[in-house]
Amino acid sequence: MTTSTADESVHPAQHVPRPRARVSRFLQIVLLATFAAHVPVALAVVEIARRFDAPMPWAVGIAWGLLGSALFIGRARASLPDRRRHPALVRFVDIPYFIHWCAAVWAFIPSVLATVVVPVIDIARGSPVHLPMGWYAGCYLSGLVVCGYGILVRRRWFQVVEREVHIPGLDARLDGLRIAQLSDLHVGTLTPRTWGLAWSRAANRRAPDLAVVTGDLVTSGTQYHEDVAGVIGALRARLGVYVSMGNHDYFGEGEPLISSLGAHGARVLRNEGVVVEHGGAKVWLAAIDDTWTRRDDLARALRDRPPGMTTILLAHDPSRFDEAAAAGVHLVLSGHTHGGQIAVPFFSRAIGLANLAHRYRLGFYRLGRSTLYVHPGLGTTGPPMRLGVAPEVTILVLRADHSSGTHSNRASGSSPRYTRSGASARARPRNAGGRVSIGVESLSPPAPAAFSTISRSDSDSRGSSTMGASSGRPAAARAVAKASRRPPR
Ligand SMILES: [Fe+2]
Repeated sequence: MTTSTADESVHPAQHVPRPRARVSRFLQIVLLATFAAHVPVALAVVEIARRFDAPMPWAVGIAWGLLGSALFIGRARASLPDRRRHPALVRFVDIPYFIHWCAAVWAFIPSVLATVVVPVIDIARGSPVHLPMGWYAGCYLSGLVVCGYGILVRRRWFQVVEREVHIPGLDARLDGLRIAQLSDLHVGTLTPRTWGLAWSRAANRRAPDLAVVTGDLVTSGTQYHEDVAGVIGALRARLGVYVSMGNHDYFGEGEPLISSLGAHGARVLRNEGVVVEHGGAKVWLAAIDDTWTRRDDLARALRDRPPGMTTILLAHDPSRFDEAAAAGVHLVLSGHTHGGQIAVPFFSRAIGLANLAHRYRLGFYRLGRSTLYVHPGLGTTGPPMRLGVAPEVTILVLRADHSSGTHSNRASGSSPRYTRSGASARARPRNAGGRVSIGVESLSPPAPAAFSTISRSDSDSRGSSTMGASSGRPAAARAVAKASRRPPR
């Protein structure tokens, strides 16, 4: 492997505005939302207290609402920066609080709607106007159940997904190159190092040729740098382990993290690239630095790229995909969005929180000859909850796509559906891959249904879909190996 550094004379940290103002504004908004969300919660608790004949139900409800609001301030202060806390405090205060907080947010919109609609119905019927106290209670209690599942159960289960990526014009010698991608680990108080090590081990079991981590290794601060460096240092790949920085990695000091990663054998690429060789073919593997703090410089990352070389770009933030495609990058690997982290199950791409803020939200996109994969992430930010968007260890298997001319649309076999034509061009969701295999693992020892697999041919690209499940690791390993047409190593 040969290495080329784009510009070592200019340190990427030189021109960096801190994100503090943006974070502060965001926290103010969340704080206001928290106070607002606790109004229906207080009413819900009043109703629940009444149903249980508790004394002074209004006092109970108001106290619950005030306590819930006040505790949010403590949780926010504890996480900025992310500091080590006693495990008992995390387990018995932080986690229950977040279940409550998420339930409050869950209940807010239906509660507000009911507050408007029910009195109107009362007036129309000529009935005395009343508040829908039972509805408030139902919304809050249902929120506790759903959010309890998302926080206590769902975020602990991660998928190991093996996807074939068909890249137009890819050197045939790179066909079969296996890239393990981890992203948005957010190792910290709520996402312990042991979880990260489980993700690394799961990636290693799929025997990747190359391992990449696309940013947000921690949530904030410096106290978990060594933990996450150990997690990434545990990754094993013949061609090395490469990292791009995310916005959260600079919510504190990024330099100590980069040093720790280097000490654990990982290479952080900051607006620079390296030549990686596989089967006699060469790949320009580059990464841009964080976009939020304006450290990113795509031109510098690609400046020393040999002409015509297959290019893979690590970019935590997928918003630079258009420029990367225009610059001839074949494959962009991103994260950042967490796929919304909370979405409607089975419709996560269409209905999820990421849709509110991101153009490229989750999964594959193609623009001309360039393909983007937006990783759903592994950890969490904000509330430690996942619903509808599973944490994922991704194994991308590159496939040379020579089935079409300059613009490939292998999925449909027709002329390109997603092409770039000026500033208004948009990359749309599409499946650029072929066979997909999914293994599900749990971070909770012992795993209840130890290991199950789903193996299917992508219906978009192959026109058929078969699904089956089995339990036990050997079966899972066989399914993964079969899907990748390679024996497990
Ligand atoms: Fe993230």
